[in-house]
Amino acid sequence: MVISGGNRTIPDALPLFPKPPRRGVNGSIVLFGPPGAGKGTQASRMSKLTGKPQVSTGDMLRAAVAADTDLGREAKGYMDAGLLVPDEIIIGLISERLQQPDAESGLLLDGYPRTIIQAKSLDKIESVSAVVSIEVPDDAIVQRIVGRRMDPETGKIYHIEFNPPPAEAANRVVQRKDDNEETVRSRLSAYHEQTAPLANWYGERGVLLRINGNQGIEEVGDSIESALLELSGKDA
Ligand code: AP5
Repeated sequence: MVISGGNRTIPDALPLFPKPPRRGVNGSIVLFGPPGAGKGTQASRMSKLTGKPQVSTGDMLRAAVAADTDLGREAKGYMDAGLLVPDEIIIGLISERLQQPDAESGLLLDGYPRTIIQAKSLDKIESVSAVVSIEVPDDAIVQRIVGRRMDPETGKIYHIEFNPPPAEAANRVVQRKDDNEETVRSRLSAYHEQTAPLANWYGERGVLLRINGNQGIEEVGDSIESALLELSGKDA
């Protein structure tokens, strides 16, 4: 197809207008933080902002558990106990995902990497432009996790107090199996022991963006957006 305008002929390989300045950064962006920090809540806004597809290892694992695949059966026990799934399982999952065509301009990685081994493995196959660290104290985490509900039809995340579901979804929202006070304590321990050290690791590489996650959902989103836009300005 060729688009004609006046005496100009524009082949369809060329855009009619120059592309808007690319927002975000060039490689993948990691969403980092303790369980319940708000990674999933912020992911769709960030995905729209940067144009990068959101990939959540937690969602991929839950889909595998629901489909009762070999991987799902292997992962289930760890997830139910609030432990990290072994590195080799997760690394394989993400390496495969990064081969897909929509990953060419980077992914928005929600919940990956969570260990230094995962980070080192990612480093070999993908450039990480920014690690958005959503920082929330442990006390607030327990309250967020226990009150979280998910709409199975839309995938939207709610909180019974901080972000209640609309009336039409109120009767169908569900609670995740690992969203109880006991499991959240194990998840927090796993976070502090195995995942939190990654903040320094990425800090030393100059890609860590620290965000105060202990404020309203909109304000957290605004802080992330400002930090990413500032970074993309530096890239330009
Ligand atoms: P995963 O699903 O990734 O769980 P998680 O990291 O524990 O994170 P969550 O999904 O619980 O929290 P979130 O930060 O997305 O918070 P959300 O936005 O929902 O992983 C589950 C399991 O899979 C792991 O335990 C592990 O076994 C395994 N796994 C996954 N990835 C792995 C990996 N890479 N390696 C090994 N194992 C892996 O928000 C939480 C609640 O708070 C919601 O109700 C929300 O409405 C509310 N909320 C959000 N923001 C705010 C705010 N600013 N103020 C008030 N409330 C808020």
